Amino acid sequence: MQPWTLIGVLTLLIAVPDALAVKSNDFKTCSQAGFCRRGRALSARALEAKSAWKSPYSVDVPSISITPDKAVFTAGVKSSLYPDIKFGLELRVHDDGVVRVRMDEVNGLRKRYNEAASWALISEPQISQDITWTAGKKDIRAKYGNNEVVVAFQPLKVSLFRGGKEQIVLNGQGLLHMEHFRTKAPAVTKTEAATPEEEEGVMEGSEDAQVVVEVNPRAWFEGDKEDDWWEERFSTWTDTKPKGPESLSIDISFPSHGTIYGIPQHATRLALPTTSGESPTFTDPYRLYNADVFEYLASSPMSLYGSIPVLHAHSADSTVGIFHAVGSETWIDVSHPSAKSTQTHWISESGILDVFLMPGPTPADIFAQYSRLTGTPALPPHWSLGYHQCRWNYISSDDVRTVQKRFDEEDMPVDVFWLDIEYAEEHKYFMWDQKSFPDPVDMTNDVAAVGRKMVVIIDPHLKRTSSYPAYQEASDRKVLVKPPSGEGEYEGWCWSGSSSWIDFFNPDSWDWWKSLFKTTESKSGWTWTSSTTDIHIWNDMNEPSVFNGPEISMPRDNVHYGGWEHRDIHNINGMLFSNLTSQAVQHRTDPPTRPFVLTRSFYAGSQRFGAMWTGDNLGTWEHMAAGIQMVLANGIAGMSFAGSDVGGFFGNPEPEMLVRWYQVGIFNPFLRAHAHIDTKRREPFLLEQPYKGIVKDLLRLRYTMLPVWYTAFRETSVTGVPVLRPHYVMFPKDPKGFDVDDQYFIGASGLLVKPITTKGATETTVYLAEDEVYYDYFSHHAYRGAAKGKEITVQAELHEVPLFVRGGSIVPTRERPRRSSPLMKRDPFTLRVALSKAGGARGELYLDDGESYAHQAGQFVWRGFSAEVGKKTVRVASRDLGAERKGEAVDGVALASYNPKNAFAETVGEVRVEKVVVLGLGGKPSSVTVEGGGELVWEYTAGVAASGKGEGVASVLTIKDPKVLVVKDWAIVIQL
Ligand code: NOJ
Repeated sequence: MQPWTLIGVLTLLIAVPDALAVKSNDFKTCSQAGFCRRGRALSARALEAKSAWKSPYSVDVPSISITPDKAVFTAGVKSSLYPDIKFGLELRVHDDGVVRVRMDEVNGLRKRYNEAASWALISEPQISQDITWTAGKKDIRAKYGNNEVVVAFQPLKVSLFRGGKEQIVLNGQGLLHMEHFRTKAPAVTKTEAATPEEEEGVMEGSEDAQVVVEVNPRAWFEGDKEDDWWEERFSTWTDTKPKGPESLSIDISFPSHGTIYGIPQHATRLALPTTSGESPTFTDPYRLYNADVFEYLASSPMSLYGSIPVLHAHSADSTVGIFHAVGSETWIDVSHPSAKSTQTHWISESGILDVFLMPGPTPADIFAQYSRLTGTPALPPHWSLGYHQCRWNYISSDDVRTVQKRFDEEDMPVDVFWLDIEYAEEHKYFMWDQKSFPDPVDMTNDVAAVGRKMVVIIDPHLKRTSSYPAYQEASDRKVLVKPPSGEGEYEGWCWSGSSSWIDFFNPDSWDWWKSLFKTTESKSGWTWTSSTTDIHIWNDMNEPSVFNGPEISMPRDNVHYGGWEHRDIHNINGMLFSNLTSQAVQHRTDPPTRPFVLTRSFYAGSQRFGAMWTGDNLGTWEHMAAGIQMVLANGIAGMSFAGSDVGGFFGNPEPEMLVRWYQVGIFNPFLRAHAHIDTKRREPFLLEQPYKGIVKDLLRLRYTMLPVWYTAFRETSVTGVPVLRPHYVMFPKDPKGFDVDDQYFIGASGLLVKPITTKGATETTVYLAEDEVYYDYFSHHAYRGAAKGKEITVQAELHEVPLFVRGGSIVPTRERPRRSSPLMKRDPFTLRVALSKAGGARGELYLDDGESYAHQAGQFVWRGFSAEVGKKTVRVASRDLGAERKGEAVDGVALASYNPKNAFAETVGEVRVEKVVVLGLGGKPSSVTVEGGGELVWEYTAGVAASGKGEGVASVLTIKDPKVLVVKDWAIVIQL
């Protein structure tokens, strides 16, 4: 078939979404993946054998060695089934209590891929200096602080204890199996093969299995067949598997934790449903194999575009976590032997065991521990938190200008216009289609005139033609992925027809790729002179998506740099593309500027390089709800800068759905409307009233809250605690909140939101986890929670999105409508002071120039707001958190070099607080003054007091223009 015919067919299929659901047949189930089938069969045999099941792996005790600094434990590991095969175990305790457990085959026939962690980790972690080792007959123990790691010898088992309680156990169920490299045996003749009786004996019943133990322990453990060891077929593809079987299976149990979260990306509940054990919700394990899944299901363990092998196990007493640094396809079974415990079984196609045990004990500790390993999310450019308008496709530069004009005519704020693949001549990215985009630089400048930006798509498939510099230069440099033969260039089909892919594992590709994005000419190669530094980048299709490849991706036996097969690095591949692109965009200017790069595919560590979105969702209510769960799950695994396509990628949402989708979108960290090429235009200005007015108000609401978002992102970029905080993160001790995944908090702001995702809704319930007052953001109605949690019912007509301020919070906003966020730079602030039942409130505001890295040299403003309630007064004050926290090493150099008079602070030196609204005061004030100044202008409406027990509209004190500056310390004194 001609490439174009295939692409034509694919486009046709994409064009009729209603006629098709997910094409499940394009993707493997566990039983269709040889190694997953083998892994699950192993666990089925273990289950069947019950207590007779014994792991064959044990520690070779004489080989144990501990480094003189006591930091690293190593030992040989043997398998009783293969006495000649050697494995090595290494265990190190990091100085923050994280334990790293590695196991590899030693002197094997081949080398297992052991570099996954090197792509994910930011640096080699510091090792603890404070460990006491005690060796016994049966085990060896490392004690440090309140934690203890125990390595049991026979069978091998590693357990992490805290306070004497077992928290994480590796190989407790004996499912560890590292398939060692072997030589392919010559084909056996029929007479030599096992008899049918022997085969049956192994496959069936525990009694028979017992018989086989004596006869053939290998078969008892591994199964009796070379099940897809040396070649594997799926649909029309054959995977040649030149290295043979090399899978890795390990059970990881959490004896004291009944709820688990993480291992994104899957479209499912945040608290992961079971896949094995009694009556599992899903019958297949969760799959991690980055894939371009057409019309994915809204509830499924199927793989999607990105994979982060990170899991939180949670209980009311403690949270622990796991990060398994493996880059190959991985399936994870989840079961709960009891309501209070969890078992997981990880089955990976290749690679070494490289598990980080994160001891917690709180979710915040896990975020810190994981961030120390893989980094925190990058602080994005401020403008990228505004509204992004995308569709496949804006068809010409005049189309872009018209869309911009329509936004301005309707006074709807927007920061970014996006161009999908049709801007590029024959889908040769970087190369503008001259007919439709004759003036890309002028077009971008027109957009940038009001501070806006453009984002343009650059996909990883390069059209194989010598007239395309990106392809030709990559080919000349020999940095393209190779076919299984290891010679020449792999060729597959994607949007650009016959294409090749850059092998970003090859360091020779790095500087060259970065050079392509330069906007000025270079003598050494092609550069993108028809672009400007106001253009940022969208990396799509980087799983990689290959239309004519197995499971719409690359053959696993393709060859990458260093001779590694694609199967070894598949899940890491997409991250390298966005990593290099983000560096490229960052270094177009000198000094560098913050890049914005959106990626569809991601891995552990991708948070350092930019934003992600949840891919090609459907315009259905189910997908709208699933989008929230997915964004929460991505966030707890590091990818805070996340969102789902507003409106749904496929389909034509009716106005009600579109309005609700904007309500979801404005409370996503990444807010972008996007639509498939065959959908009707649906920019918000095209809506009829009242929908148009509602969406305009929603977009404006997002813009008023940019200070909240930016402050939350800054905190996340320092601590790793996600921007969107689910209930278990906010209230780890409240079991009633463990399953809540349709409402969440924004950073530490105290804002709680529950977007509506059902048709025809006029009200909803909201869960309040604590005995505290929560104020409706718009009506100021005060609701009361309860110590053991309580559901309240609130109104949610179409124009209403349930949004609350938690008592005890101070929320900074900017309430002047503008066309784009950069135009708000000098706008004044409003402070909403939501008093808690105990009196008092706290809040923060972080500001910097939003574009450069000057903040890392101390150029920022970081204010702390407080309200202290005394007997006769309430004092609302602002102080310099930058100065107060200067000594803390929380964010490297930034705080240490902070100076209140820094150049950025001077640029906002005149910016005022124009309004202070105090909710829940106990009575009408007698006077309101600025400390050291005169009486202010204020208004008071009587209502419910925070300190009482009543519900209803809260009392509201509005202080108008107190003439205090945001960069200065001040206090407003309210006399009661
Ligand atoms: C697939 C992406 O997921 C989608 O957002 C995009 O519009 C199309 N590719 C075309 O580039």
